[in-house]
Parts: sequence; C-alpha cells; structure tokens
Amino acid sequence: IAVLSVASECAPLVKTGGLADVVGALPRALASLDVEVRTLIPGYRGVATDGATVAEWDDLWGGPARVVARSEAGLDLMILEAPHLFDRAGGPYMDASGRDWPDNAERFAALSFAAAVLARDGAGDWTPDVVHGHDWQAGLVPEYLAAHGTDVPFVFTVHNIAFAGTVPADRGAALRLDPARYADHYEFWGQISSLKAGLMGAARITTVSQTYAAELMTPEFGMGLDGVIRHRAPEVTGIVNGIDTDIWNPATDPQIAPYSNLTGKAANTKALRAEMALPASKGPLCVLVSRLTDQKGIDLLLEASPTLLDRGGQLAVLGSGDPALEGALLERAAHAPGLAVRIGYDEGLSHRMIAGGDAILVPSRFEPCGLTQLYGLRYGTVPLVALTGGLADTVINASPAALAAGAATGVQFWPVTAHALSGALTRLCDLHANGKVWRMMQRKGMKQPVGWESSAPAYRTLYEDCTVPPP
Ligand code: ADP
Ligand code: GLC
Repeated sequence: IAVLSVASECAPLVKTGGLADVVGALPRALASLDVEVRTLIPGYRGVATDGATVAEWDDLWGGPARVVARSEAGLDLMILEAPHLFDRAGGPYMDASGRDWPDNAERFAALSFAAAVLARDGAGDWTPDVVHGHDWQAGLVPEYLAAHGTDVPFVFTVHNIAFAGTVPADRGAALRLDPARYADHYEFWGQISSLKAGLMGAARITTVSQTYAAELMTPEFGMGLDGVIRHRAPEVTGIVNGIDTDIWNPATDPQIAPYSNLTGKAANTKALRAEMALPASKGPLCVLVSRLTDQKGIDLLLEASPTLLDRGGQLAVLGSGDPALEGALLERAAHAPGLAVRIGYDEGLSHRMIAGGDAILVPSRFEPCGLTQLYGLRYGTVPLVALTGGLADTVINASPAALAAGAATGVQFWPVTAHALSGALTRLCDLHANGKVWRMMQRKGMKQPVGWESSAPAYRTLYEDCTVPPP
C-alpha cells in the first residue's frame, strides 16, 4: 500500500510537539509491514530542497511553487517549496515574536492543495492509494480531492482538536473552496473550519488514543465539533501513539549514562541534580518536559507543588510557551530550593531529565495521547498523570488492587484540579518511600510495550479497509 502522509511537522526536520514525532516515526514502523509512506511537508526555512521536482506551479497562492522528492533521516519526503509561503524566520505557525502568521489558512490550504494534486497525478511513477492527513493543516485535502474529481480515500488523524484552523467565511474564495459545499462540509458557526472539512471528508477518522476518541464525542472535550464526530462515529477509531524506541532507549541513549537496570539509572539522577543545581535529597525527583500551555495543567502544578516540596521531593521543569506560565515558574523557582526551571526547547536535556527523574509529571487538562509518560515508562521514570485521553490508556494506576497484582506502573488523578494533583503527589511520595514497591512499578513500566508494535498494524488495517471497495 502506498500512502501520502500530509502534515505541518515531521521529526527530526521540524517539530513543535508530539505531532512531529508521530509523523516522523510512523513511516518507519509501517515500512516493515509493506506500507510505503511518503511524507509531504512545507519547505520551511532551513528544510533542504535538493531533489527531483515531481510537481510544479507558476502561481500557488501568490507565487511559484514545486514539490521536491528527497530522502532524509530514513524518510521519503515530499517538500512543498513555496518561498512566498514558507521561507520565513520564526516557527511553522508563528513569527519570531509569537504572533500567528496572518495567512496560515492559505499556507496550509496550499499544502493540502498540493497533496490533492499529487494524489491525482502521482509523483513520477509513484501514486498513492491513500492520503493520510494530520490535524487541521491537512483538513482541506478532501475539498481539493473533490474539486479535482479524485476518489483516492482520505484518512484523517486528529492529534489535537483544540486547533481548528477557523477563519471568517469571506476567506472561502481565497481558499478556493466550493461555496456549494460550505454548509455540509466546512461551515462551523458561520466560519470556515479546516478541521471540520477533514472530519466530513474522511473515509476514516482516527485519533491518538481510545479514550480521546470517546472524549471527542462529548461537549466537554469536542471543542464544538463533538456533534460532527458523533455523526461520523462509525468511522472513528482510536489508535494509541507509539514512541521511537531506537531514539528513546535507555540502554543506548547517547545523551545519558546508558542503563538497562535500575542501578544504572541512579547515576543519571545524580547527574541531573547536579545539572539543575538541586541539592541531594531522599524525596522523589520529579520532572516535567512540556509545552507550557493551559492544556498541560502547569498552573495546577504550581499550586500543588508545595505538597511535593514539603515532603522533600523536588521538581525539575523544562518547557517553553505561554510567557505568563514561564514567568510564574521562574519566579517560584527563585524562592523554592527544590524547584529548578529551564525555559527553552532542548532535546538533549529532555533525555537527561527523563533518564534522571524518579517520576515524570503530566497533569494535563486534556491529552489526546501524550508521549512523555511513554518515555518515562521506558526509562523507569514513574509517570504521575491526569486520568484523561492517552494518559488514561497508557498508565496503570497504583490502586491497592493493581499493586497487589504487581500491575501498577504509575499514579493517576482525577478530577484535574490542584487539590486532586496534590493528593496524587502525596501518594507518589508514599510509594517512593517504599523502595520495594517503587522498584516493582519501575520494572513493570520498563517492560510495557510502548513502541509501534500494535499501532502500526492497526494503521495498516485501516488503510487496507478504505482501499478495498465495498462488495
Ligand atoms: P504535545 O504534542 O501536546 O506537545 P506530546 O507529549 O505528545 O505533547 O509531545 C511533546 C513532545 O515534545 C515530546 O517529544 C517532548 O519530549 C517534546 N518537548 C516538549 N517540550 C520540550 C522542550 N522544552 N524541550 C525538548 N523537548 C520538548
Ligand atoms: C498532540 C497532543 C498530544 C499527542 C500528540 C501526537 O500534540 O497534544 O497528546 O501525543 O499530538 O499525537
């Protein structure tokens, strides 16, 4: 099966979050299952574009553009080179000062349009059997497939419904959308929603955990699109993310003092305390690696953290994002000797933190899947997580029954409030104080499969199902 994957991020080339990890790792996992994935991403500044031209336009939303096929980092890439849209300083979605690009709708419409053209015309001797789009940036693909009269099936994966790519309805002509399809396909409260277009036009919809799939159908989590998702319920499945177990392997990780047992982990804990200027302590060293946004519950952690620090526990944070959260963390760290904060994005430090932490915290208000708790499991770093989305599906709470059965791998809390988080931090400290129980949880987590072993075949089955014509 040949799949054209379409996304706004792909690790290791361009990453702002877990989307990039998944888009970058899934093709490798599928290759051994005879699924050949080519990945179409924008040619942002810094993305190399030497390779064979497989499609070309004199004017793609205001300037010349082409698609270049090239291999990099073990991936078969299709780079949409369109300097007027993508060759800019700053990030994929924002300028250097953190403002969204005003033409984001057009930029990712162009990406989706290019995908539809590749689906129709192929690239050289390669034609996709399926187009697989990720998040709102690929949501308009089915609109352009329809405009081109192309019936290649579209699979749509929702990584985060909080971003919908919504713009005023008067942008429809600029986005080259068919007004006749407005009401049924892409209208959302009088505006244009790329996400809704993706949901309505997909042959299959997936999201990145089973619990998030169920949550998306509720008003609490559906961000106004829960009705659309309920309407498409028969086509909706949850497939939990895996992580790249070659990159995230404590036995070979070049960023750390490698270990395959808990004795070896201790050196990393010591080194992390030194690196973060934290004093020696008997309490658990908790780590958090995250975008700093409302989603991630950082404010709740700030409120609950005294519970941890008063027990002799410590907290090391690595993240960037909302300036108010960055400021609040730094301000608190200045007065709390057990709290260390690094603002910024740092791959190497993220590995050292996950290797060195006793526990990893993910107190998210919602979390479609979440990857850092999976890294934690693999590194013997016990996850403490909110009971939501993929966090509910990947961690086994240390309930009395789970502990007695030797099944527990972490601590979960609910509701997602500072009060409940504070209670969970107390439980974590109690568990950590009992060395035997703690080690049992660490070992159990390290044995849990967190790669793509079951999820890659699930995607394959999905691709097969939508390419087989119904009888
Ligand atoms: P989300 O996609 O919502 O940000 P995930 O847990 O799925 O959440 O993925 C986040 C990814 O980004 C992980 O690979 C995590 O290690 C990484 N990450 C987040 N913040 C940082 C940071 N400041 N430095 C390094 N890596 C980070
Ligand atoms: C999103 C979600 C995160 C998920 C990631 C990859 O960014 O916030 O939970 O792990 O996508 O699917």
